[in-house]
Amino acid sequence: MAILLPGGAGFIGSHTAVELLNDGKEIIIIDNFSNSKPEVLNAIKKITGKEFKFYEMDYADRQKLEKVFEENQIEAVLNFAGYKAVGESVQKPIEYYTNNISGCLVLLDVMRKYGVKKFIFSSSATVYGEPEKIPLTEECKTGGTTNPYGTTKLFIEQILKDIYKSDNTWDICILRYFNPVGAHESGLIGEEPQGIPNNLMPYIVRVAAGQLKELSVFGNDYNTPDGTGVRDYIHVVDLAKGHIKALEKLDKEGKGLFIYNLGTGTGYSVLDMVKAFERATGMNVPYKIAPRREGDIATCYADPKKAKEELGWIAEKTLDDMCKDSWNYLKN
Ligand code: UFG
Repeated sequence: MAILLPGGAGFIGSHTAVELLNDGKEIIIIDNFSNSKPEVLNAIKKITGKEFKFYEMDYADRQKLEKVFEENQIEAVLNFAGYKAVGESVQKPIEYYTNNISGCLVLLDVMRKYGVKKFIFSSSATVYGEPEKIPLTEECKTGGTTNPYGTTKLFIEQILKDIYKSDNTWDICILRYFNPVGAHESGLIGEEPQGIPNNLMPYIVRVAAGQLKELSVFGNDYNTPDGTGVRDYIHVVDLAKGHIKALEKLDKEGKGLFIYNLGTGTGYSVLDMVKAFERATGMNVPYKIAPRREGDIATCYADPKKAKEELGWIAEKTLDDMCKDSWNYLKN
């Protein structure tokens, strides 16, 4: 029985593929390389010393997807095939709603047809919109997303709740990621944003490497200790391990729809991140204070207690690891 990973060549998918293979699981990756590279597949094999099946295709291609389900014994699906660039989603809402929502619906429909009802969904802290309180617990209200990317996550969460209500033989786990950073310690897989990065860590790394002149710190007048935005940065390998724990929970207990925050529970400001990166790598990160970025909030970090209690999962890597591994990947 195999675990299917649409988008398994991407940033979070590839790290989860490694953890699944290391855990002795059989996996199948589907990817169309719209935001990833074929070399990632060899890197996963090199890191783990294991083989897996791969299909180059769009996960929303129903005919091809049905063939994958016909040719293999699939027991669970972890969906990493969503588009994830916030800014781009504002420019291309139709592409985002089509790929993320219509694509996911095709996937869920094909799963139902083939009687595969174990599903882990990559959601995001963005579903909380403007946080009701900090730290964010899973019970906090959701909604008020400020861009199509976030709205696709919110809508899919609702779709999954409705599916479970209609048929409680599904086993569904929604994982709300906070801010994934870092890379595998081998330096063989990591984050590869296209063009100029939007997210903080990839930007810092490129400034340190001299590829970009300086970091713009978006606002220093927030109601935070140093005035810059505070976020819950989590090492991608910790995040990947959260999926293993979620799968274990569905395997052991099943029958339910579960929601977990995957974060560290600690918030760091933009300037904390700059300093931590400089300390960890010995590199210099020039920055300037710039106006606030539209849609940003002051503070966002998780209460990760539920994942600890129910999944036995906690983030183990340090901020130092996150900085070192991000840098190591770029150097490689
Ligand atoms: N920031 C800067 N300069 C930059 C980039 C970011 O100061 O060049 C600041 C932001 O203002 C924010 C913090 O760094 O305070 C983090 O920003 P990111 O863009 O890295 O991440 P966000 O917190 O904005 O969250 C993004 C998406 C979310 C998604 C999350 C995790 O906006 O929807 O990544 O994937 F949930």
